[in-house]
Amino acid sequence: MIKLGVNLDHVATIRQQRYTPYPDMLTAINIALDNGADSITMHLREDRRHIQIDDIMLAKENMGTILNLEMAATNDMLSLAKSIKPDYVCIVPEKRQELTTEGGLDLKKNFNKLENMIKELKDCTRSVSLFIEPSNDVIHDAKKLGADAIEIHTGKYAEAKEQSNIIDELKRISNAVEYGFSLGLTVNAGHGLDYKNVSKIAQIDNINELNIGHSIIAESIFLGLGDAIKKMKNIITKESK
Ligand code: PXP
Repeated sequence: MIKLGVNLDHVATIRQQRYTPYPDMLTAINIALDNGADSITMHLREDRRHIQIDDIMLAKENMGTILNLEMAATNDMLSLAKSIKPDYVCIVPEKRQELTTEGGLDLKKNFNKLENMIKELKDCTRSVSLFIEPSNDVIHDAKKLGADAIEIHTGKYAEAKEQSNIIDELKRISNAVEYGFSLGLTVNAGHGLDYKNVSKIAQIDNINELNIGHSIIAESIFLGLGDAIKKMKNIITKESK
């Protein structure tokens, strides 16, 4: 059965917009864990627009949390990961002006830097993942780089409007999952998944975990965080084997 990683970045977005002490991150973490989150994802961005270092520490110190730290491939983030020792690390590309992570990593361009970073990260986490586009060429490079896992960017699928594009993107993702799995990589996926489009992704065999944030936090306005997570978990559980 596919696991659900709940991304809590946008709990922090609401807090940082007014620099209030609420919504309380520890409460959010505990509600997520009590309602079916298999891990908690936090993206510590260079501009600190949502998650802060204190949020990461809080998640790390909360005994029940399996923490997945999303980070850019920078020396500052590497030092931080070394001191925090998150359970999982996912390396993502980061641009200052983007609203959210726009695409997967360019592995060829950053090969040497990533190779060194992955080696160093392996000493402080159980699994190093690379956030990449669903392409066999890129997955091949991820394996060569020594990554333990890949997270397939589902953004193009989520944004596709025409039925034929949706089908093409689904095919690209399922081929990528199959190829990554055949190489012995743990295959995760995420970005832009919501209560409607998640079903088809959850039906793909051999995905380990889906990382979902924005749609869950949006739904929690109406349902509350616990029920919004339960609702997503139920869909994923029903659709995946
Ligand atoms: N996975 C990665 C690597 C991401 O960068 C993000 C967005 O921060 C997500 C998953 C979650 O995307 P969304 O918030 O659209 O569900």
